[in-house]
Amino acid sequence: MNNTENHIYVIFGASGDLTKRKLVPALYALFVQKMLPEKFVLLGASRSDFSDDEFRSRMREAIIKFKEIDDESQVDQFVKKLFYTSISFDDEAAYQKLSDRIKSLRKEFNINGNTIFYLSTPPSLYGIIPQKLAAVELNKQNDGWKRLIIEKPFGYDLESAIQLKELLLKDWKEEQIYRIDHYLGKETVQNLLVTRFSNGIFEPLWNRNYINHVEITSAESIGVEKRGGYYESSGALRDMVQNHLLQVVGLTAMESPSSLDPIAIRNEILKVFQSLRPIKKEDVKNVAIRGQYLSSKIKGEQVPGYREEEGVKPKSVTETYAALKFYIDNWRWGGVPFYIRTGKRLPTRVTEVVIHFKPTPHFLFSQNDVCQSCNQLVIRIQPDEGILLKFGMKTPGSGFDVQNVNMAFHYSDLSNQRIPSAYERLLHDTMKGDSTLFARTEEVLEAWKFLTPVIECWKNDKDVPLFGYPAGTWGPENADDLIENKKMTWRYPCKNLADDGVYCEL
Ligand code: BG6
Repeated sequence: MNNTENHIYVIFGASGDLTKRKLVPALYALFVQKMLPEKFVLLGASRSDFSDDEFRSRMREAIIKFKEIDDESQVDQFVKKLFYTSISFDDEAAYQKLSDRIKSLRKEFNINGNTIFYLSTPPSLYGIIPQKLAAVELNKQNDGWKRLIIEKPFGYDLESAIQLKELLLKDWKEEQIYRIDHYLGKETVQNLLVTRFSNGIFEPLWNRNYINHVEITSAESIGVEKRGGYYESSGALRDMVQNHLLQVVGLTAMESPSSLDPIAIRNEILKVFQSLRPIKKEDVKNVAIRGQYLSSKIKGEQVPGYREEEGVKPKSVTETYAALKFYIDNWRWGGVPFYIRTGKRLPTRVTEVVIHFKPTPHFLFSQNDVCQSCNQLVIRIQPDEGILLKFGMKTPGSGFDVQNVNMAFHYSDLSNQRIPSAYERLLHDTMKGDSTLFARTEEVLEAWKFLTPVIECWKNDKDVPLFGYPAGTWGPENADDLIENKKMTWRYPCKNLADDGVYCEL
């Protein structure tokens, strides 16, 4: 459905990786589906010195590399909408030049002042670019709307996030600012809301009376690749937990919103964040585990450890794995532990939410230990998107032995239903002015506040261990100690790569 108004989309950091891998391919997908407005111009801006044509040809290459293309002539049509201007980000005069370029494109294509500014730059520029844009009045909405899209991380910790918030609000209104968290753009993350609030069978069970614990995993098989420089100042906690994983917690734990209004939904997520039980400084070592991958052999090939990666300090203590146990102190979740973990160089790429239901009150049948956790609802966010319900069934034959079986739905079973990429969905929402799937300042600040004791302890307390784990394994074994019931462990949807290959369930 195309209900977007004509506008100019400016991407700062246009020569970067995100632009080429995600943003431009997503805009191209919108173009192919006729979801861009009739008049649309993409203006790339970054330090590199390209002509419009050079930029077009780089983006053409990227689209062909990162998208399945049926018809290259459509790519040629799309890249005609692309323009480029080089900019030195902290130079005042450069913004006047940018403003002039925008004005001339508006005139050439007969577009009013509607403009989106996407900051796909190093986070250190998130405070600078919006200020400079305001200095040349590119924040003013008298001739059309102006929107500012900011990539994560929003701030480096609570203090810097507050400073950034205040700086932005000097020149921009809250409703002009879209803090992107691409997890919220994932179809399957949004489906958490639908699974919970459109099915009468789940909702009555979705609370402390029936749920034993909740487990959320986001595992990646890749290492930091070429992003060592960025990752060194981030680590798993800031890169994944503060934003993506806590947003998934929010959607899993929130109350039903009164409507699908963005404010109603985001209010409920915020309430979850406000109910997170603060972690005491002295408890950090008991509820948070950090790890760093070590060199090992994966499928016969030696892969480097984190400290050997490009841009990483040889004695780096940055965590590439983080696991946390916490509670949400409210009526629904009182006493239910939440376990979340994320890591790079784990055996596979998988993101999933696992709802572990309480066991039956009395074991009538001979059940093995595994069946203590018989009933699980696994919401697979990626890959192999789908939902799996695990339950006990009588093993055929004499006696009453119970075995665990699966009832599974795979998105791939829906024929002709393509899952749009997260960026496709979110970029389109920014064009429509729909902020439902973007993080509000208060949410971001609550998330930082919650993690502050862990951040500080990991930074200052030399006695808190940083565990090494061989690349291709499920992270430090000590993370199993977080799980309260010692008969249970994390769910391991795939074997370690050190075993004979990878076996994935679902
Ligand atoms: C990004 C992180 O936000 O999310 C990356 O900066 C991480 O380090 C990526 O690899 C994971 O996203 P996805 O969609 O592949 O799960």
